[in-house]
Amino acid sequence: LEPPVIVVPKRVKEEEVDDGKKKVTVFFGTQTGTAEGFAKALVEEAKVRYEKAVFKVVDLDDYAADDDEYEEKLKKESLAFFFLATYGDGEPTDNAARFYKWFAEGDAKGEWLNKLQYGVFGLGNRQYEHFNKIAKVVDDGLADQGAKRLVPVGLGDDDQCIEDDFTAWKELVWPELDQLLRDEDDTTVATPYTAVVSEYRVVFHEKPDMFYEDNSQTNGHAVHDAQHPCRSNVAVKKELHSPESDRSCTHLEFDISNTGLSYETGDHVGVYCENLSEVVDAAESLVGLPPHTYFSIHTDKEDGTSLGGATLPPPFPPCTLRKALTCYADVLSSPKKSALLALAAHATDPSEADRLKFLASPAGKDEYAQWIVASQRSLLEVMEAFPSAKPPLGVFFASVAPRLQPRYYSISSSPKMAPNRIHVTCALVYEKTPAGRVHKGVCSTWMKNAVPMTESQDCSWAPIYVRTSNFRLPSDPKVPVIMIGPGTGLAPFRGFLQERLALKEAGTELGSSILFFGCRNRKVDFIYENELNSFVETGALSELIVAFSREGPTKEYVQHKMSEKALDIWNLLSEGAYLYVCGDAKGMAKDVHRTLHTIVQEQGSLDSSKAELYVKNLQMSGRYLRDVW
Ligand code: 2AM
Repeated sequence: LEPPVIVVPKRVKEEEVDDGKKKVTVFFGTQTGTAEGFAKALVEEAKVRYEKAVFKVVDLDDYAADDDEYEEKLKKESLAFFFLATYGDGEPTDNAARFYKWFAEGDAKGEWLNKLQYGVFGLGNRQYEHFNKIAKVVDDGLADQGAKRLVPVGLGDDDQCIEDDFTAWKELVWPELDQLLRDEDDTTVATPYTAVVSEYRVVFHEKPDMFYEDNSQTNGHAVHDAQHPCRSNVAVKKELHSPESDRSCTHLEFDISNTGLSYETGDHVGVYCENLSEVVDAAESLVGLPPHTYFSIHTDKEDGTSLGGATLPPPFPPCTLRKALTCYADVLSSPKKSALLALAAHATDPSEADRLKFLASPAGKDEYAQWIVASQRSLLEVMEAFPSAKPPLGVFFASVAPRLQPRYYSISSSPKMAPNRIHVTCALVYEKTPAGRVHKGVCSTWMKNAVPMTESQDCSWAPIYVRTSNFRLPSDPKVPVIMIGPGTGLAPFRGFLQERLALKEAGTELGSSILFFGCRNRKVDFIYENELNSFVETGALSELIVAFSREGPTKEYVQHKMSEKALDIWNLLSEGAYLYVCGDAKGMAKDVHRTLHTIVQEQGSLDSSKAELYVKNLQMSGRYLRDVW
């Protein structure tokens, strides 16, 4: 059965606050908007099903100002759902960090939890070690404290099709809510869910006399965060690989002087980049409107509710279609099922509409997994395959193309050395997809092509902001450090070493330090080789150990070098050393973790479970830190 598509459903009227209606609060911890989107989708559907209940969607950060207020307000909830994403090394999203810290420290306890009924849906990726950790911890913690779990925790897996996981989990939720939210005298039959295509209201403008585009990007704003990035010029750009490399790695420096931006060693920078012009050309022809079309988008309601009832991201400023496709549309990711339904609703060829609806339906699950997900078909490729589907702009930007998200990089400088610059070390993403397309990473390609100030007054710039991290050097510089970072995993350690050098030059006594770096070949991709050697010469780094994976007959990786240095690592740990790992989470960080476990077990003469406890303690005490992706 194909889900029916409704373009403009009835508006749900605003609820009043205390009128004896049953209340449901839906919390979200979101980074890129998926958890928030699911929370809102659940509520949109629930509002249609349970007209007598009141639903609220709440950002966990906005909910309470401090721990006491979390408790005070949660005490008044009786029915709640949590949508919680897990990131990197089993971390909560920024907006759930405060709530999670309070919760994980065991402060959510007391009789009041007995009245709470709840459900948790997690968003994670099975390729990572701490799959859906945040959702599992909250789900278990609530149950342990006496709250009533309505449905098993949903384990959304972004490696497969997370929308399907969400759909399956919702099917478990409805029977529970039917019991709780339907009055006995309520004879209405549960309304089957209908897919909603939301849209912005669009206003087309005459091309202004003085052609003005908002390039300011909120520069001068007091706080810079994901919603208020700051325009920064590209000051320097360098290729780090040698010319014979078949890959590329860019060193980029953003100029942050006079911007109000500041950072600490170990922080991340979020970069809003632009689509390549060839990508924008293709998108323009698929949308089918002239590139200079000047328009604005509107949600009409203060809460951001659009036509169609769903809550959408705040509109971007008025601009040309060219600019909107360049800066705001993610057209290279695979389309979600909801995007296929939105395209179907606007396909003039009925056979195309049918095929799009089939791909989005439960019956088309396998085909969607194969033809879209496994083949890494981009939205552009899908739209090319369905040329009659030309959604209007309001639908395209609301329901078809997601907003282009910022990309995060571990900053590779220290403010002690570069107070006015944020350095980034970025490997180019350039790969052939199974469907035969060459995928060029949006941000890494933008960085590779950026024009620095050293080359032109009219240099490249990007809206950026700094995200704080807990990846920090020990506060006591005498504490030894062990750093493991192959490839671009070196980035934060270059910052660490700059900081240590600055401390040393200021006369501070430093503890010993050892860096394990890995690359393919000394002549090709040994990035920052001279700098690393000079850190050793100046004493900022005690020992540099490099694993070359493609020089000899067998692969040598950082973990092999760690095993050779097992005794030194054990001795340093015994002296209280901090151990840091940065880089690829799916392969390297897992292998390094296993090697660390073996080193502890063998050098400490511990059995496996004691070794595990030792490593856990390192982690718990903040001495084993990972910045992995
Ligand atoms: P490879 O490409 O030859 O396999 C930086 O990317 C370095 O990390 C490269 O030398 C790469 O080697 C290596 N690398 C790849 N997989 C790894 C893993 N699981 N553990 C450690 N290093 C790895």
